[in-house]
Amino acid sequence: NKVVLAYSGGLDTSVIVKWLQETYNCEVVTFTADIGQGEEVEPARAKAKALGVKEIYIDDLREEFVRDFVFPMFRANTIYEGEYLLGTSIARPLIAKRLIEIANETGADAISHGATGKGNDQVRFELGAYALKPGIQVIAPWREWDLTSRETLMAYCEQHNIPVDFSSKKKKSPYSMDANLLHISYEGGVLEDPWTEAEEDMWRWSVSPETAPDQPTYVDLTFEKGDIVAIDGESLSPASVLEKLNKLGGANGIGRLDIVENRYVGMKSRGCYETPGGTIIMKAHRAIESITLDREVAHLKDSLMPKYAELIYNGYWWSPERKMLQTAIDESQEPVNGEVRVKLYKGGVHVVGRRSADSLFDEKVATFEDDAGAYDQKDAEGFIKLNALRMRIAAGKGRTLI
Ligand code: ARG
Ligand code: SIN
Repeated sequence: NKVVLAYSGGLDTSVIVKWLQETYNCEVVTFTADIGQGEEVEPARAKAKALGVKEIYIDDLREEFVRDFVFPMFRANTIYEGEYLLGTSIARPLIAKRLIEIANETGADAISHGATGKGNDQVRFELGAYALKPGIQVIAPWREWDLTSRETLMAYCEQHNIPVDFSSKKKKSPYSMDANLLHISYEGGVLEDPWTEAEEDMWRWSVSPETAPDQPTYVDLTFEKGDIVAIDGESLSPASVLEKLNKLGGANGIGRLDIVENRYVGMKSRGCYETPGGTIIMKAHRAIESITLDREVAHLKDSLMPKYAELIYNGYWWSPERKMLQTAIDESQEPVNGEVRVKLYKGGVHVVGRRSADSLFDEKVATFEDDAGAYDQKDAEGFIKLNALRMRIAAGKGRTLI
């Protein structure tokens, strides 16, 4: 028997390799993805080899991640609980998909991951895996083993000759972090007290708004069918778009977030997030939709969004309801083309201009000046009276509202 492990190359998942080999007496296949976490993935090869792994997969999934997951999500202006841009949540379905593809290629009958039994990630990996391969077995070491403290984990490394440099090479962050092209998340450490402010040196991608430049940065974003395809007139791939916006946003102190959120498993959890590019995309996308979308389409989209966000957060990307919503969302984006100009300044993203060949904005109708008959103000009288009808009837029958 064989198991495919989502392997970061870090200490925890290295321990998992050994533990799986020992506990299940199985062949471990490792899978390491570059999804823009900003760490080299190639070193994972040598580390896996040293652990006796024969089949090693290392994939660059950055373009697929942004094109097929991040962009489709942003088409819906997706935000969880009013704040969270779902940076970790949206990467999990891609990992789940790849784990299953590799299981199919290598004839593995199980997958494994390094998520704990207390979080959302286990749910996302496993719901995805079961949806894509119903007969797959799942091994979640954190739910099974007793290496629950740093000390027991280190002792296990010692016993099993797991190379020490795994733990000592770089300074261990005091936070549980997860990074990809969309965001970095920080949890744990001092953040476990929701009253304690994050230390300034925790943030890795952005300067603080206080130290951001005193001059604003203007950026023009070109949209096609709801996705950004060019920045300042330069065509860019999806991953390059996000990379570039992360740099511009980070340099202007944009995209920091500190929240307490509701995990699917039931607990509240405090997390800090850094999503500079995503924060810009969100604002700009709403701006281009504001001139290109029909009102009712826009409002219906908005009413569906919290449901769509919840389903991504809870791990149901690979579900029939997500597919259904996505089809509607994507259909709505046909006319979402044009340009948005944003001004980035000390942590703020300010939309200052928008234009589109598909614009529904009609200056002739909207003007405060003489509209030359484009809009007959007299029509408004009947419109208001009919809308007031039911309230007038009720008031006439003595129903009181104050
Ligand atoms: N709380 C966030 C979420 O559920 C971030 C999770 C971070 N995951 C991690 N393995 N550090 O999406
Ligand atoms: C974990 O528990 O592995 C990370 C946090 C989460 O998944 O919510």
